Order: sequence, then structure tokens, then C-alpha cells
Amino acid sequence: MKIAVFGCGYVGLTTAVGLAEMGNEVLGVDINPTRIEMLLAGKAPFFEPGMEEMMKRNLSEGRLSFTLDTPSAIHFGQLVFSAVGTPPKKNHEADLTAVLSVAESFGRFGSQGKIFVNKSTVPVGTSEKIRETIERNAMSSFDYSVVSNPEFLREGTALQDFFHPDRIVIGIEPDDLGVKKSMDKLYRPMIDSGVPIQYTDVRSAEVIKYASNAFLATRISFINELAEFCELSGADIKTVAKGMGLDKRIGNTFLEAGLGFGGSCLPKDLGALIEKGGALGFDFKLLKEVQKINKRQPGRMIQKLKKHLTQLRGKTVAIWGLSFKPKTDDLREAPSLELITSLVKAKCKLKVFDPVSMMNMKNLFVKNPTVLKSLSFSTNPYDALKGAEALLIVTEWDEFRNPDYAKMKSLMSGDILIDGRNLLAPKEAREKGFRYESFGRILLSDNVAPTKNHPTKRNVSGRYHLIVKKNPAVRE
Ligand code: UDX
Repeated sequence: MKIAVFGCGYVGLTTAVGLAEMGNEVLGVDINPTRIEMLLAGKAPFFEPGMEEMMKRNLSEGRLSFTLDTPSAIHFGQLVFSAVGTPPKKNHEADLTAVLSVAESFGRFGSQGKIFVNKSTVPVGTSEKIRETIERNAMSSFDYSVVSNPEFLREGTALQDFFHPDRIVIGIEPDDLGVKKSMDKLYRPMIDSGVPIQYTDVRSAEVIKYASNAFLATRISFINELAEFCELSGADIKTVAKGMGLDKRIGNTFLEAGLGFGGSCLPKDLGALIEKGGALGFDFKLLKEVQKINKRQPGRMIQKLKKHLTQLRGKTVAIWGLSFKPKTDDLREAPSLELITSLVKAKCKLKVFDPVSMMNMKNLFVKNPTVLKSLSFSTNPYDALKGAEALLIVTEWDEFRNPDYAKMKSLMSGDILIDGRNLLAPKEAREKGFRYESFGRILLSDNVAPTKNHPTKRNVSGRYHLIVKKNPAVRE
């Protein structure tokens, strides 16, 4: 099929490259000339595993190309995908300018039978706005369809998610059988490999996307709230999450406690859903709490640091990981930003390391010399530790999972280790001499230690050894 994909960001580029790999002829469109130049030269504008290789292959085999030329892209595409951004406005409402601009071009340059496939994340009811815009700008009469086809791609595994999605959701007008045929044809390879496809009405498809991300965010805030409770009650959050996750109704994903969720989707979509609720006179009380819990996680890390360093001024702190999650260089809504800003405000010197996102961090703070002056970028994780009083683990990159504790100790001037992603084994970290703090983890031995009111001891085989208090009155 001939396909035009508008927007060459994460979603658009993954969609364009994936559809080309499936044998379609794809033209990616973007308004940014530098980006188009890069793409035509076979360079991906962001880090995503496998992307550049697959893009280059499809470019050289002639199934994929990129252009700035909107009219010819609309002429080219039998299917016209919108994968442009819908960034949040000040009030968190999704900004539809870019989507409606694609709709405007579709109206002006469209022709008989073309299908507008919306992959941009948009609030419920946007499809009607797209249709209005197409019709307002049409220069001639033609039959067309508007489809809502939300994406569920995760950064870092975007291509894998494209080819092996859990489901394909397609919102269509109930009687539009022609469009169903085209979408079935487009997704045939996936349907044949067993991926479920759900046809819905357009509005429900739009809500499915927001509801899915809001639910994932809710799970994360739930487990983070429970982690705080575990810290107070002496239970271990990882053990609790594992036990919960073994229940098939619950499952074990999105139950990792820590610094919370960031990225380009979860925070934005949660905000946009709450805002849309408000616009319709509905108050999403639960989701507002989810937001609040997430916002307090970076502050919790600083509290843990303050437990050991009462005075932060002038202290050197190392940070491992900057991106909002591993396998991406994306810093959008990353907890590292809030942490860095707060620590710089408290006059700390920061030594940071991230495998791929340090350049993005430099560019981000280029207009904030106060922050930039306090940051030093290290060439490897251990380099960041030289002279540091504390290490904060912020992103769960695999290379931080099995650190050389002896080397760490020899390089650091202090022994504070705060694990914002619960990566390390608490017992081992403490045995290696670190004052280790986590998000809701305990040492197994912590909660069986005898207390003043409960003097029970354990014998060598681990069984409880009862100590009867001498109380002659009771004996008689
Ligand atoms: C998300 C959705 O998963 C995807 O379906 C959607 O289309 C786009 O948004 P992404 O933003 O790439 O994908 O990240 P995701 O893997 O969902 O992680 C989001 C954030 O939650 C990350 O900051 C991650 O560190 C955090 N997270 C995830 C947790 O804190 N705990 C968890 O258990 C899982």
C-alpha cells in the first residue's frame, strides 16, 4: 500500500519504518528541514535500538523516503497517517494544532477514497474536529474516511512493540466497511501472527489510549504509595509486588517502585485526561492523586539523602542515569530534572553519568548556566564517583545492576547509596559498607530482629527460641 506518515518523531518514524519493513511504500513527512535531511542520510534523530539499521535498509531498498512537501505526500498516500505531536498546553489540554494542520492539508490536497489514520494521541471527540477541518478546507468533493488507530509504543522497545503489539485498536464509523477492509489489509501480517484486532467506534478508540496510559500510571503510583507504607511497616515492596503479581488478575508488570514515571506519554496523557474530564464537568479524583504521588517521588529521594547528610551545601553528589527510563536518550519529564534542579538549588555539586542522554542534558540546560555550572559530565559511571559523598541511582540502566562495590568505595569520599529504582540487593550493598537506602525495600533480617517488647530470639537453624520470663506469680 502507499502510505504517507506525517510527523517523524518517535511514533511517526517507528510507524514509517515499521510499515516500510512490512513491504509498503512509505513517505515520511516533517516540517523540520534538518530532520528530513538527517533521515534521508540514514540518521535517526533520537536513540532507539534497531531503528537506524532498519531505516537505512528500507531507504536503500526504495520502500521508504522522507519529504518536506506536504501536497505531494497527500497525493502519494492512499493512507495518510497523522503521527504529529500533541504537546500539553499550560492547562494540560492537548494542543491539536499540528493534527489539525495535517487535516487541513488532507482537505486541500486529498482525493477520492483516501483514509486519514490518526495515530496522534488526541482527546475524545477530536475525530469530529478532524472531519470538520477536512471539510472546511476541501477544494473538491471526494469520499474519505477518518480512523482512530492509537499507538502503544514504548520508547526503547518501539520497533519490537510495533511488530508484536498486544493489540491493534481501530476506531471507525460503524458502517464504513471499505475502511475496515483497508485496515485489515494493512495489518494482515500481524493479524495472521495472532495479534488481536479490536474494531470500535471512534470515540472509544480515542479513550482506550488515554485510559491505558492512565491505568499504567495508576499502577506505578499505587506501588509507590505502598512502598512508603512498607518503609513504615517493615515489609519489602519487591516481595509484596511479586506476591501480588502472581495473581493472574493483577499480573507483575508496572509494579516497580521508585522515582516514578516520566517520559513523553504517561504524565502528558494523565494530565490531558484529567483536563478533558474537567472540561466535561467530571472530576477525576483518583487520577489527580496518581499525579500527586508521582510528583513527590524525587523529593522522597532528597529526604533520604538528607537523613544522612544534614547539610547539602557544598557536597558532591554522583548521579547514575538521567533519561526517564533505560534504552532511550529522552529526558522529557524525567525525574532526574527535578532532582538536579533541587540539588543545585541546595548548592550541591553534581557529577552525572548516563550512557546516551548526557548531550541532551547539556542542551537542555544550556540556557540555565547556574545548573550547568554545577554539573560535571563523566565519561563512565565510576568516573562520576570520584570524591562523591553520595551516589543516587536514577535510571535503571542494566550496566548499573552489578556494580563493583570495592571500586565504588575506593573512589567515593562518602558511603551513601540511594537506589531510586530498587536495582541493588540491599543486604549486599550494606555488607559492602554502604549506607544503602531504597524505595520500600528492607533487609529480611530487619523485620525479625527482637524488639524491647518482643524479646524472642532465633536459634542457629532460624527457628524462634522462646524465652519465658521468670514470673513466679504466673507459675503458681
Ligand atoms: C508509555 C506506554 O507504555 C506506551 O504504551 C505508550 O504508548 C507511550 O507511553 P513509555 O513512555 O515509552 O511508554 O514508557 P513506559 O515503559 O511505559 O514507562 C513509563 C515510565 O514509568 C518510566 O519513567 C518508567 O521508569 C516508569 N515505570 C514503569 C515505573 O516507575 N515503574 C514501573 O513498574 C514501570
